[in-house]
Amino acid sequence: MDHSNYEIDEMISAKTIAARVESLAAEISECFADTDKLVVVGLLRGSFVFIADLVRELDLPVEVDFLEASSYGNAMESSREVRILKDIRGEIEGRDVLVVEDIVDTGYTMHHVLHLLEARNPAKLRVCALLDKPSRRETDVKIDWTGFEIPDEFVVGYGIDYAQRNRNLPYIGKVRFVK
Ligand code: IMP
Ligand code: MG
Repeated sequence: MDHSNYEIDEMISAKTIAARVESLAAEISECFADTDKLVVVGLLRGSFVFIADLVRELDLPVEVDFLEASSYGNAMESSREVRILKDIRGEIEGRDVLVVEDIVDTGYTMHHVLHLLEARNPAKLRVCALLDKPSRRETDVKIDWTGFEIPDEFVVGYGIDYAQRNRNLPYIGKVRFVK
């Protein structure tokens, strides 16, 4: 199939996302209410919009750090081999950490990242994913907060790309290929 020509159908509106981000932030703020300074680790690049909105709704002192992992062999299918392209800058030993991801799909990326961070002995390590595709899971990963569960569709927008495009859409849409 020719993958160059596609249309995007809106799946989750900007308004719906904003409302969900607000409620996630309230739950997360409550969970980390006793934390001195939470380390929020965004996984690049897909989480950059989500993390920007989420941290601004958190009623907590936060430090923001980023980690870049790569698992994508091509634009649409995970290679299942995760490489760390950029590590976080800060020390997390004894700290409370929240990993923020755009989508958990097969789960290999999150599994690998959690393994890496866990080895550094954080006090608390929790995960917030904007989207989850449970039907695609191939590994066992625990997600503490999920924005939305979605079916097995390829999605873009709100930070999420298809071949580095469409990250700047304010909503989440599904990709539909056309002839
Ligand atoms: P996993 O390792 O298979 O769980 O893949 C997770 C990563 O794949 C996410 O961080 C996304 O970057 C990417 N990904 C998974 N599904 C989609 C999608 O529908 N659109 C764009 N990227 C996706
Ligand atoms: Mg990603």
